[in-house]
Amino acid sequence: MRLPKRIKIVEVAPRDGLQNETTIVPTEVKIALIDRLSQTGLAAIEGGSFVSAKWMPQMADSAAVMQGIHRQPGVSYPVLVPNLQGLQAAIEAGADEVAVFGAASESFSRKNINCSIAVSFDRFGEVCDAARRQGLRVRGYVSCALGCPYEGAVEPTTVAWVAGRMMELGCYEISLGDTIGVGTPAKAQAMIDAVTQKVQIERLAVHFHDTYGQALANILAVIERGIAVVDSSVAGLGGCPFAPGASGNVASEDLLYMLKGLGIETGVDIQALADAGYFIASYLNRPSGSRVANAMLAQQRSEKSCA
Ligand code: HMG
Ligand code: MG
Repeated sequence: MRLPKRIKIVEVAPRDGLQNETTIVPTEVKIALIDRLSQTGLAAIEGGSFVSAKWMPQMADSAAVMQGIHRQPGVSYPVLVPNLQGLQAAIEAGADEVAVFGAASESFSRKNINCSIAVSFDRFGEVCDAARRQGLRVRGYVSCALGCPYEGAVEPTTVAWVAGRMMELGCYEISLGDTIGVGTPAKAQAMIDAVTQKVQIERLAVHFHDTYGQALANILAVIERGIAVVDSSVAGLGGCPFAPGASGNVASEDLLYMLKGLGIETGVDIQALADAGYFIASYLNRPSGSRVANAMLAQQRSEKSCA
Protein backbone atom coordinates (compact mmCIF):
# COMPACT_ATOMS: atom_id res chain seq x y z
CA MET A 1 0.00 0.00 0.00
CA ARG A 2 1.44 3.41 -0.99
CA LEU A 3 0.10 6.08 1.36
CA PRO A 4 0.82 9.77 1.96
CA LYS A 5 3.22 10.49 4.86
CA ARG A 6 1.08 13.35 6.11
CA ILE A 7 -2.62 14.13 5.82
CA LYS A 8 -4.33 17.45 6.48
CA ILE A 9 -7.64 17.14 8.30
CA VAL A 10 -10.24 19.83 7.62
CA GLU A 11 -12.61 19.90 10.59
CA VAL A 12 -16.18 20.71 9.52
CA ALA A 13 -18.29 20.13 12.67
CA PRO A 14 -18.97 23.79 13.48
CA ARG A 15 -20.46 24.20 9.98
CA ASP A 16 -21.55 20.85 8.46
CA GLY A 17 -22.29 19.44 11.91
CA LEU A 18 -24.27 22.28 13.42
CA GLN A 19 -26.12 23.21 10.20
CA ASN A 20 -27.91 19.87 10.44
CA GLU A 21 -29.14 20.19 14.02
CA THR A 22 -32.88 20.77 14.34
CA THR A 23 -32.36 23.11 17.27
CA ILE A 24 -30.20 26.18 16.82
CA VAL A 25 -26.99 25.93 18.81
CA PRO A 26 -26.21 29.18 20.69
CA THR A 27 -23.39 31.37 19.42
CA GLU A 28 -21.33 30.96 22.61
CA VAL A 29 -21.45 27.15 22.31
CA LYS A 30 -20.25 27.36 18.69
CA ILE A 31 -17.42 29.67 19.77
CA ALA A 32 -16.46 27.33 22.64
CA LEU A 33 -16.41 24.37 20.23
CA ILE A 34 -14.19 26.18 17.71
CA ASP A 35 -11.88 27.39 20.48
CA ARG A 36 -11.50 23.81 21.75
CA LEU A 37 -10.84 22.55 18.22
CA SER A 38 -8.24 25.30 17.79
CA GLN A 39 -6.20 23.71 20.61
CA THR A 40 -5.98 20.27 18.99
CA GLY A 41 -3.37 20.88 16.31
CA LEU A 42 -5.92 21.06 13.46
CA ALA A 43 -4.83 23.41 10.66
CA ALA A 44 -8.31 24.12 9.24
CA ILE A 45 -11.64 24.49 11.04
CA GLU A 46 -14.75 25.52 9.13
CA GLY A 47 -16.35 28.33 11.10
CA GLY A 48 -19.81 28.72 9.53
CA SER A 49 -21.74 29.81 6.44
CA PHE A 50 -22.74 33.16 5.02
CA VAL A 51 -25.93 31.97 3.36
CA SER A 52 -29.57 33.03 3.49
CA ALA A 53 -30.89 32.87 7.07
CA LYS A 54 -34.25 31.78 5.62
CA TRP A 55 -32.62 28.78 3.97
CA MET A 56 -30.27 27.93 6.82
CA PRO A 57 -31.26 29.55 10.12
CA GLN A 58 -28.72 27.35 11.97
CA MET A 59 -25.89 29.43 10.45
CA ALA A 60 -27.47 32.89 10.82
CA ASP A 61 -25.01 33.90 13.56
CA SER A 62 -21.85 33.08 11.60
CA ALA A 63 -20.61 36.69 11.71
CA ALA A 64 -20.86 36.72 15.51
CA VAL A 65 -19.14 33.33 15.67
CA MET A 66 -16.26 34.48 13.46
CA GLN A 67 -15.87 37.65 15.53
CA GLY A 68 -16.00 35.77 18.85
CA ILE A 69 -13.48 32.98 18.26
CA HIS A 70 -9.89 33.12 19.48
CA ARG A 71 -7.93 32.47 16.32
CA GLN A 72 -4.76 30.49 16.65
CA PRO A 73 -1.76 31.27 14.46
CA GLY A 74 -1.38 28.71 11.69
CA VAL A 75 -5.07 27.72 11.76
CA SER A 76 -7.41 28.78 8.96
CA TYR A 77 -11.13 29.22 9.55
CA PRO A 78 -12.88 28.89 6.16
CA VAL A 79 -16.58 29.78 5.81
CA LEU A 80 -19.09 28.86 3.12
CA VAL A 81 -20.31 31.57 0.73
CA PRO A 82 -22.72 30.91 -2.17
CA ASN A 83 -22.44 34.33 -3.86
CA LEU A 84 -20.98 37.85 -3.68
CA GLN A 85 -23.39 38.84 -0.91
CA GLY A 86 -22.04 36.02 1.24
CA LEU A 87 -18.44 36.90 0.38
CA GLN A 88 -18.96 40.52 1.39
CA ALA A 89 -20.48 39.50 4.74
CA ALA A 90 -17.69 36.96 5.33
CA ILE A 91 -15.01 39.59 4.68
CA GLU A 92 -16.73 42.03 7.04
CA ALA A 93 -16.72 39.30 9.72
CA GLY A 94 -12.96 38.84 9.26
CA ALA A 95 -12.96 35.51 7.36
CA ASP A 96 -9.50 34.48 6.16
CA GLU A 97 -10.72 31.90 3.65
CA VAL A 98 -14.03 31.10 1.94
CA ALA A 99 -15.52 28.07 0.21
CA VAL A 100 -17.99 28.01 -2.66
CA PHE A 101 -20.18 24.95 -2.94
CA GLY A 102 -21.41 23.44 -6.18
CA ALA A 103 -22.72 20.06 -7.20
CA ALA A 104 -22.32 17.38 -9.84
CA SER A 105 -26.11 17.01 -9.95
CA GLU A 106 -28.42 19.57 -11.54
CA SER A 107 -31.29 18.70 -9.17
CA PHE A 108 -29.18 19.00 -6.04
CA SER A 109 -27.73 22.32 -7.23
CA ARG A 110 -31.26 23.72 -7.58
CA LYS A 111 -32.42 22.34 -4.21
CA ASN A 112 -29.32 23.49 -2.33
CA ILE A 113 -28.45 26.86 -3.86
CA ASN A 114 -31.53 27.52 -5.99
CA CYS A 115 -29.73 27.72 -9.31
CA SER A 116 -28.45 25.55 -12.15
CA ILE A 117 -24.86 24.32 -12.30
CA ALA A 118 -24.17 26.79 -15.14
CA VAL A 119 -25.46 29.76 -13.11
CA SER A 120 -23.50 28.54 -10.06
CA PHE A 121 -20.29 28.72 -12.13
CA ASP A 122 -21.05 32.38 -12.95
CA ARG A 123 -21.54 33.13 -9.24
CA PHE A 124 -18.42 31.20 -8.19
CA GLY A 125 -16.40 33.05 -10.85
CA GLU A 126 -17.51 36.38 -9.38
CA VAL A 127 -16.69 35.19 -5.85
CA CYS A 128 -13.24 33.92 -6.89
CA ASP A 129 -12.39 37.17 -8.71
CA ALA A 130 -13.51 39.35 -5.80
CA ALA A 131 -11.84 37.13 -3.21
CA ARG A 132 -8.56 37.20 -5.14
CA ARG A 133 -8.63 40.99 -5.16
CA GLN A 134 -8.98 40.87 -1.34
CA GLY A 135 -6.19 38.29 -0.98
CA LEU A 136 -8.56 35.51 0.20
CA ARG A 137 -8.22 31.87 -0.79
CA VAL A 138 -11.30 30.08 -2.15
CA ARG A 139 -11.92 26.40 -1.60
CA GLY A 140 -14.49 24.62 -3.77
CA TYR A 141 -16.90 21.84 -2.88
CA VAL A 142 -18.46 19.45 -5.38
CA SER A 143 -21.45 17.74 -3.77
CA CYS A 144 -23.02 14.49 -4.98
CA ALA A 145 -19.65 13.17 -6.13
CA LEU A 146 -20.80 9.60 -5.53
CA GLY A 147 -24.57 9.90 -5.77
CA CYS A 148 -27.47 12.33 -5.59
CA PRO A 149 -30.56 12.15 -3.36
CA TYR A 150 -32.73 13.21 -6.32
CA GLU A 151 -31.00 11.72 -9.40
CA GLY A 152 -29.29 8.61 -8.01
CA ALA A 153 -26.02 7.62 -9.67
CA VAL A 154 -23.70 10.42 -10.80
CA GLU A 155 -21.16 9.89 -13.59
CA PRO A 156 -17.50 10.33 -12.54
CA THR A 157 -16.98 12.36 -15.72
CA THR A 158 -19.63 14.85 -14.54
CA VAL A 159 -17.82 15.21 -11.20
CA ALA A 160 -14.57 15.73 -13.11
CA TRP A 161 -16.15 18.39 -15.32
CA VAL A 162 -17.55 20.37 -12.36
CA ALA A 163 -14.31 20.04 -10.36
CA GLY A 164 -12.21 21.09 -13.37
CA ARG A 165 -14.39 24.13 -14.02
CA MET A 166 -14.26 25.23 -10.37
CA MET A 167 -10.49 24.92 -10.42
CA GLU A 168 -10.36 27.07 -13.60
CA LEU A 169 -12.54 29.67 -11.89
CA GLY A 170 -9.89 30.08 -9.20
CA CYS A 171 -10.45 27.57 -6.37
CA TYR A 172 -7.14 26.47 -4.82
CA GLU A 173 -8.54 23.10 -3.72
CA ILE A 174 -11.62 21.04 -4.55
CA SER A 175 -13.31 18.94 -1.88
CA LEU A 176 -15.26 16.06 -3.41
CA GLY A 177 -18.35 15.39 -1.31
CA ASP A 178 -20.20 12.13 -0.90
CA THR A 179 -23.11 14.18 0.39
CA ILE A 180 -25.42 11.26 1.12
CA GLY A 181 -22.74 8.72 2.03
CA VAL A 182 -23.65 6.10 -0.58
CA GLY A 183 -20.21 5.50 -2.08
CA THR A 184 -18.10 2.36 -1.79
CA PRO A 185 -14.30 2.09 -2.15
CA ALA A 186 -14.04 1.01 -5.80
CA LYS A 187 -16.52 3.70 -6.86
CA ALA A 188 -14.61 6.28 -4.82
CA GLN A 189 -11.35 5.30 -6.57
CA ALA A 190 -13.01 5.42 -10.00
CA MET A 191 -14.35 8.88 -9.25
CA ILE A 192 -10.89 10.09 -8.14
CA ASP A 193 -9.34 8.54 -11.26
CA ALA A 194 -11.78 10.51 -13.42
CA VAL A 195 -11.30 13.78 -11.54
CA THR A 196 -7.51 13.56 -11.71
CA GLN A 197 -7.84 13.75 -15.51
CA LYS A 198 -8.84 17.39 -14.89
CA VAL A 199 -7.40 18.38 -11.50
CA GLN A 200 -4.05 17.43 -9.97
CA ILE A 201 -4.39 15.05 -7.03
CA GLU A 202 -2.47 17.52 -4.79
CA ARG A 203 -5.36 19.95 -5.20
CA LEU A 204 -8.11 17.52 -4.24
CA ALA A 205 -9.72 16.77 -0.89
CA VAL A 206 -12.48 14.34 0.06
CA HIS A 207 -15.57 14.83 2.21
CA PHE A 208 -17.37 11.62 3.07
CA HIS A 209 -20.66 11.40 4.91
CA ASP A 210 -21.03 8.05 6.64
CA THR A 211 -24.66 7.14 6.01
CA TYR A 212 -23.90 3.59 4.89
CA GLY A 213 -20.85 3.13 7.14
CA GLN A 214 -18.40 3.25 4.22
CA ALA A 215 -16.60 6.51 4.93
CA LEU A 216 -13.38 5.13 6.48
CA ALA A 217 -13.11 2.42 3.82
CA ASN A 218 -13.60 5.05 1.13
CA ILE A 219 -10.97 7.30 2.71
CA LEU A 220 -8.45 4.47 2.82
CA ALA A 221 -9.20 3.69 -0.82
CA VAL A 222 -8.62 7.27 -1.97
CA ILE A 223 -5.56 8.01 0.17
CA GLU A 224 -4.03 5.00 -1.59
CA ARG A 225 -4.53 7.04 -4.77
CA GLY A 226 -2.63 9.96 -3.15
CA ILE A 227 -5.39 12.13 -1.66
CA ALA A 228 -3.82 13.98 1.30
CA VAL A 229 -6.60 16.30 2.50
CA VAL A 230 -9.64 14.82 4.26
CA ASP A 231 -12.68 16.59 5.74
CA SER A 232 -14.21 15.17 8.92
CA SER A 233 -16.36 16.20 11.84
CA VAL A 234 -15.92 15.64 15.59
CA ALA A 235 -18.51 13.37 17.17
CA GLY A 236 -19.55 12.39 13.63
CA LEU A 237 -21.91 15.37 13.37
CA GLY A 238 -23.14 16.56 10.01
CA GLY A 239 -25.56 16.39 7.15
CA CYS A 240 -27.35 18.72 4.81
CA PRO A 241 -31.03 19.65 5.19
CA PHE A 242 -31.31 19.74 1.36
CA ALA A 243 -29.98 16.18 1.00
CA PRO A 244 -32.65 13.86 2.39
CA GLY A 245 -31.15 10.72 3.91
CA ALA A 246 -27.72 12.23 4.56
CA SER A 247 -26.25 11.43 7.94
CA GLY A 248 -23.12 12.69 9.70
CA ASN A 249 -19.63 13.10 8.29
CA VAL A 250 -16.93 10.59 9.09
CA ALA A 251 -15.99 11.26 12.73
CA SER A 252 -12.68 13.11 13.08
CA GLU A 253 -11.70 10.90 16.03
CA ASP A 254 -12.27 7.72 13.95
CA LEU A 255 -10.33 9.17 11.02
CA LEU A 256 -7.43 10.19 13.26
CA TYR A 257 -7.30 6.77 14.95
CA MET A 258 -7.09 5.07 11.55
CA LEU A 259 -4.42 7.47 10.27
CA LYS A 260 -2.34 7.04 13.45
CA GLY A 261 -2.59 3.27 13.02
CA LEU A 262 -1.28 3.65 9.48
CA GLY A 263 1.63 5.77 10.74
CA ILE A 264 0.38 8.86 8.88
CA GLU A 265 1.16 12.21 10.52
CA THR A 266 -1.61 14.78 11.03
CA GLY A 267 -0.28 16.99 13.82
CA VAL A 268 -3.58 16.49 15.70
CA ASP A 269 -3.86 15.35 19.34
CA ILE A 270 -6.50 12.63 19.61
CA GLN A 271 -7.38 13.25 23.27
CA ALA A 272 -7.87 16.98 22.69
CA LEU A 273 -9.98 16.19 19.62
CA ALA A 274 -12.09 13.66 21.54
CA ASP A 275 -12.58 16.22 24.33
CA ALA A 276 -13.93 18.73 21.80
CA GLY A 277 -16.27 16.01 20.54
CA TYR A 278 -17.49 15.13 24.08
CA PHE A 279 -18.11 18.84 24.69
CA ILE A 280 -20.48 19.23 21.74
CA ALA A 281 -22.11 15.80 22.15
CA SER A 282 -22.82 16.64 25.78
CA TYR A 283 -24.32 20.01 24.80
CA LEU A 284 -26.53 18.21 22.25
CA ASN A 285 -27.41 15.72 24.97
CA ARG A 286 -26.56 12.57 23.07
CA PRO A 287 -23.64 10.18 22.88
CA SER A 288 -20.83 11.00 20.46
CA GLY A 289 -21.24 9.58 16.95
CA SER A 290 -17.55 8.59 17.04
CA ARG A 291 -16.90 4.95 17.89
CA VAL A 292 -13.30 5.78 18.79
CA ALA A 293 -14.35 8.59 21.15
CA ASN A 294 -16.86 6.26 22.84
CA ALA A 295 -14.25 3.50 23.15
CA MET A 296 -11.74 5.96 24.65
CA LEU A 297 -14.35 7.10 27.17
CA ALA A 298 -15.22 3.53 28.16
CA GLN A 299 -11.51 2.75 28.58
CA GLN A 300 -10.96 5.81 30.77
CA ARG A 301 -13.99 4.95 32.92
CA SER A 302 -12.83 1.37 33.41
CA GLU A 303 -9.31 2.56 34.33
CA LYS A 304 -10.84 4.97 36.88
CA SER A 305 -13.04 2.31 38.45
CA CYS A 306 -10.03 -0.07 38.75
CA ALA A 307 -7.82 2.63 40.36
P1 HMG B 1 -32.20 32.63 -3.28
O1 HMG B 1 -33.49 32.74 -2.50
O2 HMG B 1 -32.27 32.07 -4.66
O3 HMG B 1 -31.44 34.03 -3.32
O4 HMG B 1 -31.16 31.79 -2.42
P2 HMG B 1 -31.81 35.45 -3.83
O5 HMG B 1 -30.57 36.03 -4.43
O6 HMG B 1 -33.07 35.42 -4.66
O7 HMG B 1 -32.12 36.23 -2.48
C1 HMG B 1 -33.22 35.89 -1.67
C2 HMG B 1 -32.95 36.37 -0.26
O8 HMG B 1 -31.78 35.74 0.26
C3 HMG B 1 -32.70 37.87 -0.19
O9 HMG B 1 -33.19 38.31 1.08
C4 HMG B 1 -31.19 37.96 -0.16
O10 HMG B 1 -30.74 39.12 0.49
C5 HMG B 1 -30.83 36.72 0.66
P3 HMG B 1 -34.66 38.95 1.22
O11 HMG B 1 -34.66 40.12 0.29
O12 HMG B 1 -35.63 37.87 0.80
O13 HMG B 1 -34.73 39.27 2.68
N1 HMG B 1 -29.49 36.24 0.38
C6 HMG B 1 -28.55 36.10 1.32
N2 HMG B 1 -28.58 36.35 2.65
C7 HMG B 1 -27.42 36.10 3.32
N3 HMG B 1 -26.30 35.64 2.75
C8 HMG B 1 -26.26 35.39 1.43
C9 HMG B 1 -27.41 35.63 0.67
N4 HMG B 1 -27.69 35.50 -0.65
C10 HMG B 1 -28.97 35.89 -0.81
N5 HMG B 1 -25.13 34.93 0.89
C11 HMG B 1 -29.00 31.10 -1.75
C12 HMG B 1 -29.90 31.46 -2.92
C13 HMG B 1 -27.75 30.51 -2.33
C14 HMG B 1 -28.67 32.34 -0.94
C15 HMG B 1 -29.75 30.06 -0.87
O14 HMG B 1 -30.16 29.02 -1.69
C16 HMG B 1 -28.91 29.54 0.26
O15 HMG B 1 -28.62 30.27 1.20
N6 HMG B 1 -28.52 28.27 0.21
C17 HMG B 1 -27.65 27.72 1.23
C18 HMG B 1 -27.87 26.26 1.35
C19 HMG B 1 -26.89 25.69 2.35
O16 HMG B 1 -26.38 26.37 3.21
N7 HMG B 1 -26.66 24.37 2.22
C20 HMG B 1 -25.78 23.65 3.10
C21 HMG B 1 -24.35 23.83 2.77
S1 HMG B 1 -23.82 22.83 1.42
C22 HMG B 1 -23.44 21.30 2.15
O17 HMG B 1 -23.74 21.07 3.29
C23 HMG B 1 -22.67 20.28 1.34
C24 HMG B 1 -21.19 20.21 1.74
O18 HMG B 1 -21.04 19.86 3.11
C25 HMG B 1 -20.47 19.18 0.87
C26 HMG B 1 -21.14 17.82 0.83
O19 HMG B 1 -21.43 17.24 1.90
O20 HMG B 1 -21.35 17.36 -0.29
C27 HMG B 1 -20.49 21.57 1.54
MG1 MG C 1 -21.15 17.85 3.91
